[in-house]
Amino acid sequence: MELTPMMQQYHQAKARYPDAILFFQLGDFYETFFEDAELVARELDIVLTQRDGHPMAGVPVRRADVYLQRLLRRGYKVALCQQVERPGKGKGLLERRVVRVLTPGTVLEEEALDPSQDVYLAALVSEGGKVGVAWAEAASGEFYAAQVDLPELPHLLAGISVQEWLLPAEAPAPLELPGPKTTRPLSEFSATRLRGRFPGSLPQAELAARAAGAIVAYLEETVGDLHHLRPPVWRDATGAMVLDPFTQRSLELIAPLRPEGKLTLLSVLDRTKTPMGRRLLRRWLLSPLRDRAQIEARLDAVEALIQGARWEPLGRLLSRVCDLPRLLGRVGTGRLRPMNLVALRRTLQTLPEIQKELPEDSALLSSVLQALEVGPQGLAQEIDRALVDDPPPEPGEGGLIRPGYSPELDRLRGEAARLKEDIAALEEKERAKTGIPTLKVGYNRVLGYYLELTKAHVHKVPPHWRRRQSLAGGERYTTPELSSLAEDLLQVEGEICALEERIFQELCSRVGEALPALARVGEALATVDVLRSLAEVAHRNGYSRPRFTDRPCIRIRDGRHPVVERTVEFVPNDLFMDEGVNLAVVTGPNMAGKSVFLRQVALIALLAQVGSFVPAKEAELPVLDRIYARVGASDALAGGLSTFMAEMKEAAQILSGATDRSLVILDELGRGTSTHDGLALAWAIARHLAENIRCKTLFATHYRELARLAERVRGVINLHMAVREWKGEVIFLHRVQPGVAEQSYGVEVARLAQLPPKVLAEARRMLEELEKSVPIAQGHGQQLPLFGPEDHPVVAALRGINPEKLTPLEALELLFQLKEKAG
Ligand SMILES: Nc1ncnc2c1ncn2[C@@H]1O[C@H](COP(=O)(O)OP(=O)(O)OP(=O)(O)O)[C@@H](O)[C@H]1O
Ligand SMILES: [Mg+2]
Repeated sequence: MELTPMMQQYHQAKARYPDAILFFQLGDFYETFFEDAELVARELDIVLTQRDGHPMAGVPVRRADVYLQRLLRRGYKVALCQQVERPGKGKGLLERRVVRVLTPGTVLEEEALDPSQDVYLAALVSEGGKVGVAWAEAASGEFYAAQVDLPELPHLLAGISVQEWLLPAEAPAPLELPGPKTTRPLSEFSATRLRGRFPGSLPQAELAARAAGAIVAYLEETVGDLHHLRPPVWRDATGAMVLDPFTQRSLELIAPLRPEGKLTLLSVLDRTKTPMGRRLLRRWLLSPLRDRAQIEARLDAVEALIQGARWEPLGRLLSRVCDLPRLLGRVGTGRLRPMNLVALRRTLQTLPEIQKELPEDSALLSSVLQALEVGPQGLAQEIDRALVDDPPPEPGEGGLIRPGYSPELDRLRGEAARLKEDIAALEEKERAKTGIPTLKVGYNRVLGYYLELTKAHVHKVPPHWRRRQSLAGGERYTTPELSSLAEDLLQVEGEICALEERIFQELCSRVGEALPALARVGEALATVDVLRSLAEVAHRNGYSRPRFTDRPCIRIRDGRHPVVERTVEFVPNDLFMDEGVNLAVVTGPNMAGKSVFLRQVALIALLAQVGSFVPAKEAELPVLDRIYARVGASDALAGGLSTFMAEMKEAAQILSGATDRSLVILDELGRGTSTHDGLALAWAIARHLAENIRCKTLFATHYRELARLAERVRGVINLHMAVREWKGEVIFLHRVQPGVAEQSYGVEVARLAQLPPKVLAEARRMLEELEKSVPIAQGHGQQLPLFGPEDHPVVAALRGINPEKLTPLEALELLFQLKEKAG
């Protein structure tokens, strides 16, 4: 079939962007065709129609943002092919061009961006065991680069929110990467590209420079010229504490482990007032510091802000500040609108007040102060002199610029006012002349100015008036004098709008010149915002300043879990692991608080290195290089691996990565296999950590046999969660005490979980029988035979039971099996 010229145009555009959905503008709609149409109709839930027998689906141009956002979130790319000519009479095919390619990692449009999260495009290029990584945010122009050894890569990436990966087509990714991927020829991963764009100070490392070069090329391809893209900041991967994705998840830093959970460390700590502050806090939490001086500098700032409750007025001021980094994206891509300048004006006008509130007794806050002081000089005043308080949404509509700013504009406005007066006077004059009392001058967009009268007076109309429109009750006319005045007025108003638009563009270029200064102000504001938020949280939640020691000891007095304490009456706990004490084995019944205690220790250490105060009466800690936290087998994280396999892989990672400066939190490791194997592995892993690696380890377990490590290995202590029995019920005290737990109370906990009474009674009877026939060692004073007779198959099976997870039916079946094993 012969293609229409328009469809030929479509195919040409589509051929150039085969991996993007082509949004093809037809008047007020963006249309998609063929497979694109089918995909878009499905993904956006819109109607699939036909044009010349081809599938077609479209969205209104005006509401395209919403649809674009949905497609980008699902990882698609969209090429916007717009009409670049205005339709006019006699025009054939309009010219259309792809003006922009939207991809998940390069979005600029605020409507499609999550304000509380960085949106990074990241490029990776690897060679000989090393990887160059660069990441940038198109919306703000932030740009970073790093080079690491391959094993370090997951740790580096763990701290960055990447929405799209850019990889060389010829080489596979060096590791599994989540999210949308784009490939480009290896030749585009070129350092020359970067050096062309940013001559001067650049990453030394060749691979990092090549990755950064690919970012520059891809941004130019998809977004066009980004004036606000900053030279890449070199990131030293060794500068931050290492938190891998498992640890981030186990500690619920950003996202809750279970979907129904709401609170996370981020949600508890986030009292920021600005979007850039919120994004920075997230980054700080995901990559705590390792440099003691830097940590102390943050702590000094937080302390200074707490004193005299300086965080309060600062909070009010920061609420007035706009998302400066992302506004710079609008500057850099020429998309500033009057409302953006209003937001910028208000932000800049707030700076002096913020400066006044900043305490001077902190080096970090002083540097913030400096950035604010140097800021873009005179820009706020200039915007304020030019722009009215409440401007229209678009420039070029009039009413944008203040009187007194431009003499030429004032003259034109005076002239327009005079012409309007003349038109009003004309009404009076014609009314007197014709004797029509109802004669009025009116205006609408279609006719312009006209004279209107009621039908009753039509016979009085002079012959030189021209009728323009008949209405039900009246007639509209124009006269040569009126049309001449109206024409002059139209002319003058056109000039006014054009001049206003010119002035607006000049203002925009002034803002453009201030880009680097504004970027520094944006960073400074984000920093104060985060420090202020930390101060407020510390004050409201009763946190204290942590102290650091060069010796490998952890001393926490009355420590709390920052998130759990928000929801329950919390019992604070101590942890003392002095020099030479490396491993604490934590036992205790189900529900006693082992997991909470382990995590609270990790979170206190992490917060301390973020530069935050901590939920404890006192905390003294070494500066840690890594924190590993693992939740046990109940949480199979890695897809495609059995629970046990995943658990062992994680353990292997820890054993190869942990150092004597690390903190390791193991919660019920070894639960996913038979009791013997599980216990043996737990034993061996814990021993290796304590004896060979000598990191600080907290190991929660139901294997009370592990407590015997303390007798065999130096530097191992036993802790347990205290419970009390009262009138046949278990009361959880949530208190950590030295020694080993005496009982499991599994059946008691099962009762709390409302297992049927019949099943519980049978379980109790069985337990008694088991305990009679196979004496289980009580207390920690007694020798616990590690692999002794206590591991009768029934005991072993019982140990493997997690009553919380059993359905009544499964419980019953289990009892039958146990009975059978017992013979
Ligand atoms: N220090 C505490 N103060 C108050 N409540 C606490 C404390 N510690 C834990 N809890 C409460 O007890 C519940 C269970 O705690 P946790 O999950 O740590 O138990 P556990 O010993 O790990 O149990 P399991 O062996 O079944 O994993 C928590 O959800 C919390 O509500
Ligand atoms: Mg637990």
